[in-house]
Amino acid sequence: MTDLKGKTVVITGGNSGIGKETAVALAGMGADVAITARNPEKGAAALADIVARSGKDRVQVVPLDLASLTSVRACAADLAERFEHIDVLINNAGGTLSKRQITEDGFEMTFGVNHLGHFLLTNLLLGSLENTGSARVITVASGAHQGARKGLDFDDLHREQGRYRGFWVYCRSKLANVLFSNELARRLAGTGVTSNAMHPGWVGTNFGREGDTSWLGPLTAISRPFAMSPKKGADTVVYLASSPEVQDVTGQYFYKRKLSKTSARGGDAAAASQLWETSEQMVGLAKPPV
Ligand SMILES: NC(=O)c1ccc[n+]([C@@H]2O[C@H](COP(=O)([O-])OP(=O)(O)OC[C@H]3O[C@@H](n4cnc5c(N)ncnc54)[C@H](OP(=O)(O)O)[C@@H]3O)[C@@H](O)[C@H]2O)c1
Repeated sequence: MTDLKGKTVVITGGNSGIGKETAVALAGMGADVAITARNPEKGAAALADIVARSGKDRVQVVPLDLASLTSVRACAADLAERFEHIDVLINNAGGTLSKRQITEDGFEMTFGVNHLGHFLLTNLLLGSLENTGSARVITVASGAHQGARKGLDFDDLHREQGRYRGFWVYCRSKLANVLFSNELARRLAGTGVTSNAMHPGWVGTNFGREGDTSWLGPLTAISRPFAMSPKKGADTVVYLASSPEVQDVTGQYFYKRKLSKTSARGGDAAAASQLWETSEQMVGLAKPPV
């Protein structure tokens, strides 16, 4: 088992499913682990479970609601105060909805939480990641990114036009995860910080459990007994976060610990660059023109 003593790991959405199992495994390897949670009670319950199951107590909960840029900024400031450096950032939180909702900042919720919130958080933590000289950013994407066959609709990223089909919006948000991860790798080349995305497989978590996936809801309920356990679903995340084998690997997409291919849309460097610049504008990171 890799010894992660002295390493700091931040996991968004670490109070449930894949994120929580990742926290148990990495805390067990000796890392200082910060999970984020939007609900304090769920965060506290997860913390107790992670400590009990890992046998380690160097675990903390940090509040984060990715549907609020104010909360994302507060979380980044909180993390920077708690930790001198961050060795691994795992952008894991996410979900899907049957009805269109908007975030505090007016973004379509699935795109806002799955992509824009993580986009801002990662950018705000870049200093803490680069401090280490050797850090890893892992984005939990999904094979569902392949469902976004026409790519991102840059004219309607918040799905204001046309019928709202939750699963297709989810597919696009996961394509955004892949494009973001690739563009981050390009932008961080030579800094020692790597960026990789992954697909966990079909995992029996709380994903879709709350009936928030329209037709996908009943389908996920029926097929859940055949889904892999959250622990197995976390395996590739844990591998990417800890294995010396992938120390210098960047800009890749993994499934079952192996390099895997994204869709052609996922490899579109022009779309990745456009998404980056558009996201900078949306979250208020763009520099004013000189
Ligand atoms: N399960 C699968 O088969 C599967 C397949 C492919 C990809 N994935 C991806 O895996 C990741 C983890 O999902 P999971 O399967 O482990 O599902 P999960 O058990 O539902 O966990 C999702 C986590 O995201 C958090 N979250 C949701 N909205 C949030 C928000 N606005 N702000 C902050 N945190 C928020 C949830 O917090 P709450 O507990 O408060 O809701 C929870 O901690 C997601 O990105 C998902 O897209 C899952």
